[in-house]
Amino acid sequence: PLPRPYAVPLPLPEVAEPVRGTGGTDFYELTERAAEVEVLPGLRTPIQGYGGTFPGPTIQARSGRRTAVKLINQLGEPTVLHLHGGHTPPESDGFPTDLVAPGASREYVFPLEQRAATLWYHDHTMDYTGPRVWRGLAGMFVVRDAEEEALPLPSGERDVPLLICDRSFAADGTLLYPALGGRPGVREAYMGGVLGDVILVNGAPWPELRVANARYRLRLCNASNARVYELATGGPMVRVGGDGGLLAAPRTVERLRLAPGERADVVIDFSAYRVGQRVELRNLAGEGAQGRVMRFAIDRPERDDSAVPPRLSAVEPLDPSRAKVTRDFAFTSGSMHGGVGWLINGRPFDSERMEARPRLGDIEVWRLTSDVAHPVHVHLDHFQVLSVNGERPSGPPEWKDTVELRDAQTVEIVTRFTDYRGRYVLHCHNLEHEDMAMMAAFEVV
Ligand code: C2O
Ligand code: CU
Repeated sequence: PLPRPYAVPLPLPEVAEPVRGTGGTDFYELTERAAEVEVLPGLRTPIQGYGGTFPGPTIQARSGRRTAVKLINQLGEPTVLHLHGGHTPPESDGFPTDLVAPGASREYVFPLEQRAATLWYHDHTMDYTGPRVWRGLAGMFVVRDAEEEALPLPSGERDVPLLICDRSFAADGTLLYPALGGRPGVREAYMGGVLGDVILVNGAPWPELRVANARYRLRLCNASNARVYELATGGPMVRVGGDGGLLAAPRTVERLRLAPGERADVVIDFSAYRVGQRVELRNLAGEGAQGRVMRFAIDRPERDDSAVPPRLSAVEPLDPSRAKVTRDFAFTSGSMHGGVGWLINGRPFDSERMEARPRLGDIEVWRLTSDVAHPVHVHLDHFQVLSVNGERPSGPPEWKDTVELRDAQTVEIVTRFTDYRGRYVLHCHNLEHEDMAMMAAFEVV
């Protein structure tokens, strides 16, 4: 039986404390270890988590200030850390074969020469990202800057990270994952990706958050392996940010689609409700229990000086006519190592083969096509979506690092390769697809 919805309070992942700070750098340590935590009321769930928690601690960082994270691997298997949405030099980007051996450690340095944004970090081990993240290796990483802080957006306790993911559990609380036992990938029935029947927010099943009748900024992150959400409260939500930080201007939406890997910052004004009312955050893409996510209980009046200004930031459109090259990336299934897998341009991931060699500083257009739905994520630089099936997306451009291709779509993106030369990856962020080889390496030269 599934746990009762809205029975547990929303947990807030602990905020990581730097072990030291010198000059322009904050130093953190993240120890990956096995632990048992209570996810479902009254049951112990073995996890593998950063700091032994699930999600891992939230890292609060500043734009332009280096964050160094020492990853200490106390698991019995090699791991890799990736800062999703980070503008990171190659040696710290968590290339899927840059493994940290069991018992070893490695320092990742994030210069964070990038705008304020809601990022997240997670494991990125070649062939095994899906099960690693499923068992707990994910956490939020918030970058702040002065531009954003000058805005009157809700802040402090009314700025809430919400890491959303689905999981399945055995009756004893153990996480269920249909792994192939020592081989990458999942059983055939899960080729589409692994879906859980319990929706977790910050690691708790269908939690409830008590709120004041005031504006809240919710930093939504879809950390699910394969589930796409279509979030709605039944009232307006004001989207102020996406993967790559603030939008140029707020956009009021009734529903918000989030594919695996994507983030959205939304402001919800609970003053539209009376104290005592409750507001469900639903998932219109799910049915039954999976159609619910969490609930807000308006439990007190509170003074609110926050506002959503009509202008948030300057988002300069990248001009595709200045692109040096247009490249094609086809995301399809196909045969691989005698079985079936997920491929890019007909080939399974090979860490040694560079699918593209963009030049540092160049603008490029990438044309992405799909057979079935694939959320495509590109490392290093954020991009702008130029067209979906030939149509310009509505609204001004925004910076993204993950874009969902729906069935049989063509999505054109434009990006510029900046600051760092070296090897990076792009891949499907459906983690089972990623593990079944839907990844390609590129090298900025
Ligand atoms: Cu969120 Cu390459 O990953
Ligand atoms: Cu995919």
